[in-house]
Amino acid sequence: MTFKPKKIPNHLAIIMDGNGRWAKKRGFPRNYGHKVGIFAVERTIEYCLKYGIKFLTLFAFSTENWKRDKEEIDGIFQLVRNYISENRDKFVGDSVKINYIGTLNPFPEDLVSILEDARRKTEKCDKLTLTLALNYGGRDEILRAINKLIKESHHEVNNELFIKYLDTKNLPDPDIIVRTSGEQRVSNFLLYQMAYSEFYFPKVYWPDFNEREFIKVLKTYQKRDRRYGGVK
Ligand code: FPP
Repeated sequence: MTFKPKKIPNHLAIIMDGNGRWAKKRGFPRNYGHKVGIFAVERTIEYCLKYGIKFLTLFAFSTENWKRDKEEIDGIFQLVRNYISENRDKFVGDSVKINYIGTLNPFPEDLVSILEDARRKTEKCDKLTLTLALNYGGRDEILRAINKLIKESHHEVNNELFIKYLDTKNLPDPDIIVRTSGEQRVSNFLLYQMAYSEFYFPKVYWPDFNEREFIKVLKTYQKRDRRYGGVK
């Protein structure tokens, strides 16, 4: 299958939902679903490189995910810790730039060091920007931006200035937002940035997300007619 190069989304953002249900269906603990979900993360990065997507943003841990059991939270931290430290050199080799949105300071210190180290080591990479949303919430991001603007005594703010205060200041807006598992909710993801994003809600649970599903995302996007409020 070939794709019209112009119609490949520049920025794909994904809410990786369904890990818990995937595991439960098979009689495993929830964290096993997250663990297998990491393989889907690896695959998705490969597909982005293969099909020429320049920005991939993944919702890995939300500002609301602290409500989960400590065991599950620690399990997710451990997966992120291992994944980033084991893949740092591969990111450099594949020219994948690592970026984060959200506030990292509540995370364990050693995890923050691993995350910062990967960000530094990949800062010159330019094939794909992989942004992990960690302790991220759209409302939190918007409020942090507003508070920063107030502290700097701005009296009037326009869109051009405001977007420079968001965590996504170096990212284009997402062209398409995908949420797996069939749930059709936004759950506090990229609230300001999604103004003109396309949405797609495949039924597949995140651990089962594969190339066939990825191609369905591309095909869905190619069928959409984006008008940004105008008329064609
Ligand atoms: C949503 O599924 C998934 C999460 C809240 C965590 C996803 C995290 C990972 C896959 C690890 C991230 C790591 C990297 C490096 C990106 P759910 O638990 O809400 O599933 P459910 O709705 O079926 O319970």
